[in-house]
Amino acid sequence: MSKGYLILGIYAAFAVMGCVGSSRFDELYQPSWAMDHFTYEGEVLKMKLDNYSGAGFSSKSKYMFGKVTVQIKLVEGDSAGTVTAFYMSSEGPYHNEFDFEFLGNTTGEPYLVQTNVYVNGVGNREQRLKLWFDPTKDFHSYSLLWNQRQVVFLVDETPVRVHSNLEHKGIPYPKDQAMGVYSSIWNADDWATQGGRVKTDWSHAPFIASYRGFEINGCECPTRWRPSIT
Ligand SMILES: *[C@@H]1O[C@H](CO)[C@@H](O)[C@H](O)[C@H]1NC(C)=O
Ligand SMILES: *[C@@H]1O[C@H](CO)[C@@H](O)[C@H](O)[C@H]1NC(C)=O
Repeated sequence: MSKGYLILGIYAAFAVMGCVGSSRFDELYQPSWAMDHFTYEGEVLKMKLDNYSGAGFSSKSKYMFGKVTVQIKLVEGDSAGTVTAFYMSSEGPYHNEFDFEFLGNTTGEPYLVQTNVYVNGVGNREQRLKLWFDPTKDFHSYSLLWNQRQVVFLVDETPVRVHSNLEHKGIPYPKDQAMGVYSSIWNADDWATQGGRVKTDWSHAPFIASYRGFEINGCECPTRWRPSIT
């Protein structure tokens, strides 16, 4: 048996034993910032930003590879200055992170989606994308798929960005730190909308992002587990 098959076999076994799929908010996540800024309406979770606080939630577990998906309906109307983020991140100064950041805008002007990838604490890989639909009118799904070969950002299952593993060219790839899954909404009017020129209009608060369709298909890790095998 070749080494390749052996490695494949180990991963297949790991997949059977350690990987889970689930879809309930309270099984997967917990509020991590401003619990009083959350409301639950049946299947829908709403998180608000007002002049007192933003809000955020985080996964209860850390994962080593997987696909995470959430459906979001972004802040309607005037959302200028606000950012809603959905991301995976590990901990520490040399952390890895994959971000979706939805940059609000004034009424009728387009939201932009900024994606970024941090590897070993280094980001500076921002890309901005205009969506092909109005993300405030309905729920759309946003996913991060992370495996040994690539990180894929998907919008309604359409890949919008691929970050490939180019370790063979000496470029570091995020593959040895377990990651949590997070979302938050906060005021970023120092940079988010038109380069920070448009400020948050608090008379339009609260700014509400709505969520449903929580899915994580990944391999759960004990919280601070970091594999030493490379
Ligand atoms: C926050 O906004 C509310 C409603 O607009 C207003 O009544 C209140 O004074 C504001 N609070 C602060 C700290 O700005
Ligand atoms: C907001 O709208 C303006 C005007 O259409 C546009 O130039 C800008 O890229 C949009 N998005 C952000 C985040 O500023």
